[in-house]
Amino acid sequence: MGERDMGSQVEICPSILPADFSRLGEELKMLEAAGADRIHWDVMDGNFVPNLTIGPDVVTSCRKSVEIPFEAHLMVEDPDLLAPMYIEAGCDLIMLHVESTKHLDRSLNRILELGAKAGVTLNPATPVDNIKHVLHLVDQVLIMSVNPGFGGQKYLPSQETKIEKVKSWILEQGSEIDIEVDGGISASTIAQATCAGANVFVAGSAIFSHSDGPQTAIAELRETAVSGK
Ligand code: DX5
Ligand code: ZN
Repeated sequence: MGERDMGSQVEICPSILPADFSRLGEELKMLEAAGADRIHWDVMDGNFVPNLTIGPDVVTSCRKSVEIPFEAHLMVEDPDLLAPMYIEAGCDLIMLHVESTKHLDRSLNRILELGAKAGVTLNPATPVDNIKHVLHLVDQVLIMSVNPGFGGQKYLPSQETKIEKVKSWILEQGSEIDIEVDGGISASTIAQATCAGANVFVAGSAIFSHSDGPQTAIAELRETAVSGK
């Protein structure tokens, strides 16, 4: 396993998927106090993925609960329709799936024109070359390390070659793009993802089901990512 590139800042982003939706504001406060860097909103429309989660009004109602940034992971069939709603609701970063739009360059530009940061997401079966020509538009590349739709799935090490490839492009271009990994991230998988080149990590079950609570979970993930082992 290689060494972690010390250039990019490690960030831990809890997914809201395992949270208690009956008290979401309190849950976000707890995550912020536990050291979360961002909140990762898993937006699912029941079509792009076989699961259905929250609408923009829920994000709006939670925005005042915490100060940390919100990122929306749009697992939806119509991101051009929904992205503006999540920006309006208070999301700072909108991540589109390559697989969900016919005109990725145009969709990403729309997000930028609305004043938000843009990210692009790849499912496990999607070749990394599909995003090469939009790297100049994005602040973040999200490599899915599970098939999207559910939390608690097993991390797919096969995705690490994609992380390495994107990292090599970023280093070549000298750009400040974050590489985020999402799915099956835990204390036993985060080191290999970080050594492959990722610096931002989504975690749901590893944070919410940690026996010593979210603060210990987030600290453990961060330490392991920083050390790369
Ligand atoms: C899956 C979501 C992930 C998931 C992460 O479609 O995008 O964010 O909730 O959950 P864990 O960390 O449990 O794999
Ligand atoms: Zn996600």
